[in-house]
Order: sequence, then structure tokens, then C-alpha cells
Amino acid sequence: MKKILCDSYEEICRVAADFYTRQLGDKPDSILGLATGGTMIGLYEELVRRYQEGKIDFSKARSFNLDEYYPIKKSHPQSYDSYMRENLFDKVNFLKTSLPDGEAADPIAECSRYDEELESAGGIDLMLLGIGVNGHIGFNEPAKTYHLGTNLVGLTESTLVANSRFFGPGERQPDQALTMGIGSIFASNKILLLISGTSKGQIAGRLFEGNLHTDVPACLLLLHPDVTIIIDREADGG
Ligand code: F6R
Repeated sequence: MKKILCDSYEEICRVAADFYTRQLGDKPDSILGLATGGTMIGLYEELVRRYQEGKIDFSKARSFNLDEYYPIKKSHPQSYDSYMRENLFDKVNFLKTSLPDGEAADPIAECSRYDEELESAGGIDLMLLGIGVNGHIGFNEPAKTYHLGTNLVGLTESTLVANSRFFGPGERQPDQALTMGIGSIFASNKILLLISGTSKGQIAGRLFEGNLHTDVPACLLLLHPDVTIIIDREADGG
């Protein structure tokens, strides 16, 4: 595990964007695993800026998102489908983009379909992750048993509270999600984990302790051979 300590959130975004510039420079037809949430907003802004300046090109690249609420209409402003179109997909030139389908009638069948799509694409070259305050990666919440493939999960109270900031008053917040499993994340060649802000200090502290806390899903990343954590000083103080 490699750790890059940044002075600010803006620096995290620039350093992470450099990984994408290099990745797509080396392998233009890369398969990118993408995440949503507050942490990724600045990175996607930076990628859009570089694309507009002609410094990065996604035209041969494909993407697979980690997760999507369930059930949720793609057109819902808080769906991850909307988030990705608004922050990245409508502004750059990916060859193809994929997310788990929050509108699928049969969520279990959708999980298998998503796994098959990912497998036939050849797996992920560079996987982007954020971390929940409870240590979740994707929506793999702390548990005794972790799913390997894409699965339907119930969101924990702490995740619902953390993500309620994105939903308006009275707006129904889904309490389930479709998420890539730990196996799909682990099958990625390289993993980038971005951690920013004081709210992540405590969980980052547990991760850097170096022990395999099985109730902190992100700790499982300690076993992966190519993980880079890009973290700011605020999160690193915990
Ligand atoms: C989002 C995802 C989540 C978030 C995590 C952090 O696709 O998979 O694991 O990365 O909840 O979210 P923020 O960045 O909003 O703190």
C-alpha cells in the first residue's frame, strides 16, 4: 500500500487526475472503475478541465461504476446515473459507460448481469474508491461476511445519515443499493482510494494502524498488491 499525503483536497484531485492521465496515456482502452459521492466531485472537475484542454482522452476507455441506489429511477436527481452524467459522462468522451441498473425489476438478476458485463469487458484496470465513515468501500458495509460479486445490500444507519445530505427534505432516500462486491474490487489491477476531510480521520486512523480489522471493509485493501491512498492532512490527523 502506498500513501500520498496532500496539503489540500485540491491537491488530492490533481494527484488523482495525474493517475488517469498516465493510465489513459499508457493504455487508452483502459477499463476504469468509478465511484460517486462528495469526494469525487473535485476529481471529476479536474478530469473535465484536462479533457477540455486536450490533455486527456477517454474515447477508447470504458467505465464501470461501483454502485447505484436501489430502487431508483435513472432520472432521479440523486441517482448515481444522474450524478455521473452531470459530473463526468456528459462532459467527456467515454466509449461506453456502465452502472448497475437501479430500475431493474429483478435486482438479483441485475447483479449477475452486471458481473457478466464486467467480466466480458476484461475486468478493471484502475479502480477508484472513496471510503464511508464506517469504512465501507462501494456499498460493502461492515459485516461478518463479504460478497464477492455484485450484490443487493441494505444500507446501514451511518451511511443513510451520511448520505442524507444529498436528499432534500421529504425526499425519499433509498435504503438499499446494488454494489460491486469485494471480489470485483479486488480483481482490479490497481486501486486508488481517496480520503479527504476531518470526518474521515477516525476511519483512516484504523486503516493506517496496519491491522486487518474485519469490521472495516477498507482494511481488506491492505491485502491488495497495488493500492494507492491519496489523503489530505485533515483526514490524516485522526
Ligand atoms: C460511492 C461509494 C461510496 C463513497 C463513500 C464516500 O460510489 O461507493 O463508498 O465513496 O460513501 O462518500 P463521500 O465521498 O460522499 O464521503
